[in-house]
Order: sequence, then C-alpha cells, then structure tokens
Amino acid sequence: MAQVLSTTPLFPDQAERMAAASHELQTPSGDEPMTRQELLHQLPEAEGLLCLLSDRIDEELLRTGTSLKVVANVAVGYENVDVEVARELGIAVTNTPDVLTEATADQAFALLLAVARRVPEADRAVREGRFPPWRLEQDLLGADVSCKTLGVVGMGRIGAAVARRGRNGFGMRVLYASRSRKGDIERELRAEFVPLDRLLAESDFVSLHVPGTAETRHLIDATALARMKPAAFLINVARGPVVDEAALADALESGVIAGAGLDVFEEEPTVHPKLLELKERVVLAPHLGSATRATRYAMVRLAVDNVLAVLAGQPPLTPVN
Ligand code: DGY
Repeated sequence: MAQVLSTTPLFPDQAERMAAASHELQTPSGDEPMTRQELLHQLPEAEGLLCLLSDRIDEELLRTGTSLKVVANVAVGYENVDVEVARELGIAVTNTPDVLTEATADQAFALLLAVARRVPEADRAVREGRFPPWRLEQDLLGADVSCKTLGVVGMGRIGAAVARRGRNGFGMRVLYASRSRKGDIERELRAEFVPLDRLLAESDFVSLHVPGTAETRHLIDATALARMKPAAFLINVARGPVVDEAALADALESGVIAGAGLDVFEEEPTVHPKLLELKERVVLAPHLGSATRATRYAMVRLAVDNVLAVLAGQPPLTPVN
C-alpha cells in the first residue's frame, strides 16, 4: 500500500479510486489546502503527491519526499514545481493539458467581450440606478469585436482554441507570434505568422497564451505596450508575470492602450493597486481560466490517472519531465 498526499480535498469518486487501488490517500481535514508545514511533515511517507498551482513544490519539499515517485500538478502550467530537481531525484512530474483548453479559451473570450462591450461597467450602472438614456453617442459605448484583428501570442493548444473562436465565431483576422510556425493552424484559420512587434502594432485584441517562464517574464512591458494601437485591448489568461503590471497600469491610465481583460496577476492573489483603481475598460478575474466544475473534475481525474499509473509502475500519461 502506497501513501498518496493531496494538498486539497478531491472529488469523492476520485478519492475512492485511490482506495480501490489500495493506496492510502491523505487530504486536508477541512476545505483549506494543506499548509507547507503539514506537507513537510507528511511527505517523508508519501509515494504520490497531488498539488495545485498555488503549492510551491520546491527543492526542500522534493528532497523531504524521500519515497516520492510522482508529483501530479492539477494544472497545465507547472512553474510551481522545481522540475529540474524532480528529474534529478527520479520523481515524475505531470500536468493536466487538453482537459482545460476549451474552458480557458472561453475565459479569454469572456474577458475580451466583457472589456470590449464594457459589461461589468454596464452591470454596475444598472444596479446603481445609473441606467443611461438611449442616445446615439451615449455612455458605455464599446468597441467592435467582429471582423477585427486578433493577435494570439503563443499558439499552443489554448492559443489555437482562442484563435478558432475569433476566426470561426467572430470572423476575425488572426495574427500569431509563436516559438514555432503552425502550418495546420495557418491552413485551418488562415492565421498569419508574424513577428511579435507586427502583431502588437496591427492587432485590435492581443491575447496572451505563453507559459510562465524566465524567458516570457515581462514579454509585455512598456515598450511592447507602446507598440499597440491606442484603441487595442490586452487579454491575459496565461500567467501574470508575462505582463509588467505596473507598466500596464500606466499604459491604461494614460491611454496608451484602450483596455485590458486580466485573469492572472504578477503576485496572485495581490493585484497591482493602480489596476484596482481603474474602473473603466479594465476587467479583472481571479484566475478562473479552468474554473468550471466539469473542467476541474477532468483535471483531477487526469492527475489521479497519472498518480495511479506511476504507482503501478507504468509511464505517466502526461509527463512534463
Ligand atoms: C493552469 O492549469 O495552468 C491554469 O492556469 C489553471 O486554471
């Protein structure tokens, strides 16, 4: 019998799969995730670990887990896990790709539409009794989305799903910048592979879909923002540090760009105070990309699949190292 730790309570039927495979699952007693101290205390006995993006699985934790065979991150991103140390220690690290692609692309488009058509501002106005009189040039006029240019930065699974929504749903012209060219996406969506500078200069909506790495940190800084059109919007459902948040707040305040829809932040759960002050044409969400019940369930199921596979001596389904 192997011991498996989960830093968060699992869906009951997924927890039962561990018992069915004769593994002993340890989860936090309440709804709150396991603290680092609890984790450090329990890890020496554990052969498997299920964790969240908010858990920092660093060298100290990995070395404490002397029996650990697999770390299953319940997320597609895995910058919270020290993958190099895990590799050195022979610990498999897995993530949850594919199952959250459509939900995350939906969230990108939800933010894009919300900020373009000023949905949160409109909602506040109605609730606060400020129903604007219907005029040709009235309050809360928004920006068109259909047939505009969508710039996708990072044409991986989620970037492609966003591009599909733009092209097939809204007739948008799609530009993309990516590490490699994607001939299939170019054929499918008539997407154009362009340098980032050109994408920034020509897009009405710039949507970020690159992983959070040292190379992508502050990819969108003051210089990049200055290349965007003053009428353009920035959408980020990728990782907060991809954008220099202070530079973005300045760019929004001074009208360098028209608006932003943000699901991720540099220092989550903290949000730059200047962003919080901007009440117009800025839509903020608390990292909800994968936050539908069905998607979260699928993520947990895949993470459990990975743990069970490794503990049964089989290769993981979705390894990252
Ligand atoms: C991920 O899986 O990396 C997402 O950011 C979680 O919503």
